[in-house]
Amino acid sequence: MATSDKTLPLDAAQLRQLAERFPTPFYLYDEAAMRANARRIMAAFRPLFPDFHEHYAVKALPNPFILKILADEGLGADCASIPELILADKAGMRGEEVMLTSNETPAREFIAAKRQGAVINLDDITHIDFLETAAGLPELVSCRYNPGPLKDGNHIIGKPEEAKYGFTREQILAGFVRLQAKGVRRFGLHTMVASNELNVDYHVETARILFELAVEIKARTGIRMEFVNLGGGAGIPYRPGQQPIDYQVLARGIRAAYDAIIVPAGLDPLGLHLEWGRIITGPYGWLITKAVHTKSIYREYVGVDASMADLMRPGMYGAYHHITVVGKEGAPATETYDVVGSLCENNDKFAVARQLPKVAVGDLIAIHDAGAHGRAMGFNYNGKLRCGELLLRPDGSTVPIRRSETIDDYFTTLDFAALERFDAKAGQ
Ligand SMILES: Cc1ncc(COP(=O)(O)O)c(C=O)c1O
Repeated sequence: MATSDKTLPLDAAQLRQLAERFPTPFYLYDEAAMRANARRIMAAFRPLFPDFHEHYAVKALPNPFILKILADEGLGADCASIPELILADKAGMRGEEVMLTSNETPAREFIAAKRQGAVINLDDITHIDFLETAAGLPELVSCRYNPGPLKDGNHIIGKPEEAKYGFTREQILAGFVRLQAKGVRRFGLHTMVASNELNVDYHVETARILFELAVEIKARTGIRMEFVNLGGGAGIPYRPGQQPIDYQVLARGIRAAYDAIIVPAGLDPLGLHLEWGRIITGPYGWLITKAVHTKSIYREYVGVDASMADLMRPGMYGAYHHITVVGKEGAPATETYDVVGSLCENNDKFAVARQLPKVAVGDLIAIHDAGAHGRAMGFNYNGKLRCGELLLRPDGSTVPIRRSETIDDYFTTLDFAALERFDAKAGQ
């Protein structure tokens, strides 16, 4: 089977030229496609939910150039650390366009988020007092709900009742009462129960659970939510032939639940917030790498110059990422390869037993759908240096938006002068 609906933003000659200017491996992001996608999302949700906000999950692609583009399309940020808050700020995402959705949050993160005016989303009932002590309670506080057995699990995030996140139902009711008693005046309700979920009904069901909870909170405590936030987790079609989420269908499904639950309860208007990451940028990023070896033992291997240090999803989750051998898109997939990186880990495999055209050393290999949770999850095990990132601009130019790591970067936390002075024999 040759590559089907998986395409590249540049043709083979253009990619080869690029690889001459910027040595492989590198990430390549398609700005025009990201913008078009953001516009489709806004066009689907904004007319149905006038108070609609998408807080892009910065963890998915923490590059300020990408964030600036998304900010330009009207997106805000979802952050989980101080560096992510800084990135959002640098990209021009300000105030309540930024959420801090974190867990086991250190005091310094609450302090930074409050100083930035970000919406703080609490992960636990004990964090009310913790936040109050650390930073003082802001006017608006959101709380993360864990529906436990009310909601089925999903293969990456697991079953909600086994997940470490959020408040139980009783805790969230008590939590909002406690927040109100302490002077908080504005409230948001959040959950995140899925990862890479393509089923529209699953997301509508999540909205319904939050809408019903907002109604129950109002009935039992008198507290009115300003918004619900459905979190992230919208899936993308990693495999050729899978159907992407239809934004119009999803927005209409959530709106129908809203009309059935929120409107009759007198809670309209209620803001709708999302924290999508993967679906915003995932399909519009590629890891471009080069075949540096082929190896024939009990299996056939293609060794590439990227490794799991650049993209860990296949190794970590056994996740499928489609692979194109650049320039051989139409060639018959006659070979069965494991496409592997150079880590001393046998799960450093971008593909296992994958049918591909015959690969020659020097061929460029494009790994698709790497625009979210890709470079961001990289690491330096084995002293591997993470690759850089390029942005394909709508005018066809390509700009580096992050350089590759250097050996000096790898050593930057070490003090070799102190090593010179260090006496290995002393202190025994
Ligand atoms: C709290 C939170 N929000 C949003 C996201 C984004 O999820 P996704 O990229 O699957 O949409 C994540 C992902 O891990 C998350 O932990």
